[in-house]
Amino acid sequence: KENVMGRLNNKVAIITGAAGGQGKVEAKLFAQEGAKVIATDLNDTLLAETVAEINAELGSESVIGFKHNIATESDWNDVIAKAVEAFGAVDILINNAAVPGKTREDVWDIDAEETTRILNVNITGTLLGIKAVMPHMKKSSTGSIVNISSAAGLVGGISGGSVAYSSTKGALRAITKEIALDVAKVGIRVNTVYPGLINTPIMRAFSEETTAAVLAKIPMGFAAEPEDIAYGVLFLASDESRFVTGTDIIIDGGYTAQ
Ligand SMILES: NC(=O)c1ccc[n+]([C@@H]2O[C@H](COP(=O)([O-])OP(=O)(O)OC[C@H]3O[C@@H](n4cnc5c(N)ncnc54)[C@H](O)[C@@H]3O)[C@@H](O)[C@H]2O)c1
Repeated sequence: KENVMGRLNNKVAIITGAAGGQGKVEAKLFAQEGAKVIATDLNDTLLAETVAEINAELGSESVIGFKHNIATESDWNDVIAKAVEAFGAVDILINNAAVPGKTREDVWDIDAEETTRILNVNITGTLLGIKAVMPHMKKSSTGSIVNISSAAGLVGGISGGSVAYSSTKGALRAITKEIALDVAKVGIRVNTVYPGLINTPIMRAFSEETTAAVLAKIPMGFAAEPEDIAYGVLFLASDESRFVTGTDIIIDGGYTAQ
């Protein structure tokens, strides 16, 4: 259905990690707001179900699924080629895919191989995405990139304990600011969203004790639903935020205000 008042009309968005959790909700919200969406994920079975479900619910073909490992540069080139072939441009990139670390990793448990794996997906994967969309955004002198970090990138004690995971989320802050300055003159914006605890599979994989401990520290007293985060991402993706770049939106129920 044509959404005449959509906040993302005529925009083409790539959303990574969109098979489930938060990325799925963003894909649906973006499509509802008039965007054409390339939803990508490593898990192509779940992704296919998700894409079919969203398109059926919206009665449109606004979302296309594409299998994609964000840590592989050639995969990014394939995703961009697909977006341009299907929809003619790339206006928005949501770097949402990430891998969690072990839920309890004390400093003495740090494992070099495991750390490298997490850094490679969460940091290198994000950088490769930004690099891949750049030529297309430069060509149209417009673009919005949103990196999904975590409150765990700002303060300790929220990730369930993975130092490696938290380091990758902290790195996104520097990536956002460095690249935002590089491309501001070209009309491309780069921002970070820091979700607190969200009710998604990552959270449900936490032990009951961890979830209860984190919940007890959230001033608002509950975990976010993915929609609560997706609305912040939508604002940054849309032209409503045309003067917002290199900055942070923290959506955490007050967790990091303490
Ligand atoms: N759930 C939370 O409480 C929470 C809190 C703060 C931040 N976040 C962040 O929000 C984002 C979304 O998380 P979620 O909770 O929806 O988790 P999720 O696990 O449901 O979604 C992550 C998706 O990324 C995909 N993925 C993993 N590795 C990939 C790769 N190499 N290439 C492509 N896709 C890959 C997974 O298959 C999965 O579908 C992540 O960046 C996460 O770190 C989550």
